[in-house]
Amino acid sequence: MNLPGSPYFAYRQDDLHVENLPLSGIAAQFGTPCYVYSRAALTENLREFQAALAAYPLGADSLVCYAVKANPNLAILNLFARLGAGFDIVSGGELQRALAAGADAGKVVFSGVGKSVVEMEQALNAGILCFNVESAAELERLNAVAGRLGKRAPVSLRVNPDVDPKTHPYISTGLKSAKFGVPIADAPALYERAAHLPNLAVVGVDCHIGSQLLDPAPFSEAVDRLLVLLDHLAARGIAIRHLDLGGGLGIRYQQDETPPEVAAYLTPLLDKLQGRGELKIILEPGRRLVGNAGLLLTRVEYLKPGATKNFAIIDAAMNDLMRPALYAAWHEIVEVARKNIPAARYDVVGPVCESGDFFGQERPLAIADGDLLAVLSAGAYGMAMSSNYNTRPRAAEVLVDGDKAHLIRRRESIADLYAHEQRIPTDPI
Ligand code: LLP
Repeated sequence: MNLPGSPYFAYRQDDLHVENLPLSGIAAQFGTPCYVYSRAALTENLREFQAALAAYPLGADSLVCYAVKANPNLAILNLFARLGAGFDIVSGGELQRALAAGADAGKVVFSGVGKSVVEMEQALNAGILCFNVESAAELERLNAVAGRLGKRAPVSLRVNPDVDPKTHPYISTGLKSAKFGVPIADAPALYERAAHLPNLAVVGVDCHIGSQLLDPAPFSEAVDRLLVLLDHLAARGIAIRHLDLGGGLGIRYQQDETPPEVAAYLTPLLDKLQGRGELKIILEPGRRLVGNAGLLLTRVEYLKPGATKNFAIIDAAMNDLMRPALYAAWHEIVEVARKNIPAARYDVVGPVCESGDFFGQERPLAIADGDLLAVLSAGAYGMAMSSNYNTRPRAAEVLVDGDKAHLIRRRESIADLYAHEQRIPTDPI
């Protein structure tokens, strides 16, 4: 079977491997549930974007800013930083994490609708590349904070181009009705305002229209609209140094999905930008860099045959990977060891006390109690969105590099989970 993930996750004989290591060995060494990533896949995914940008005449100055929210593990951030990536952050926490991982602050862009004063101060003091400002009120606040610190804040406005990205409503952000960005019709006036505020330096135009996009057309439509804005600003003497096109390029979760190749998505966009002098491009991919570079390794606790359905109850749950519960997202689920036993259809579910705690329904699997399963394409928004619901320690994370497995986050202990809690004094009740 052709797995929908990366070529670095493949069967050798009947055993699923990550690069050169069998997943059965990783489960034995680190336990389950466990997120497993491939260094080669991560590297290749980033390089694909960097190569597509380098083919553009001004590519050398252009920047891939990995969207930290997709998977913020320090080892992954460090790997990307060493490969020359910048970072797209949405909180002071992500800034601190990126810096701790070795990021260059001068390659960090700060997105998000609710930046606090403290987060602005932190980012100004670090000397980030750009604030992607999402409202008129944020412009004024940033100007005031920068003034107090005696600094000038570099800004882009996140412009909402009002295009339909045709993805799940929870992850589509570019429509007029979204809370994100400023309407494109309001952008000229806001840019005039920004250009007159003494502690701001207008440097860019930014947009992000949604996530898991499989059709390149909405990107192209967004660029067309942004270019009209750029021309309008140039005519008013507002020079734009960079255009940030956000993230959003989708990955293949199911066999029949055909996301565009990185170059096929980018080249037409870059073509539209030819002849625009010194304009530099910034991209903020998250999912496309890490999604297919990771899987969730889990063990079957029980098989529970039923009158109308069979259940495979596994040791991972919605707290480990909430995408199926939250977005009805599909993740391919495969056996780690292919055996010659009859297959049956199972609802693959976790131990959490909610009916929404499922990974897949009616999945054909040839399994027995105690077998290992892999939930594929789980590298993005998997561990990042995990929780401790039901007092379940979060999974371990392992990064495979050839024939070496590195533990990049140890499994939490139960004591970790209540370490920040305390009882009230023991007065008589
Ligand atoms: N830039 C901004 C401003 C964003 O809001 C996002 C994602 C990205 C970049 C990266 O988008 P990507 O390349 O990963 O599509 N939890 C959801 C996805 C939420 C995406 C939020 N914003 C999921 O599991 O599908």
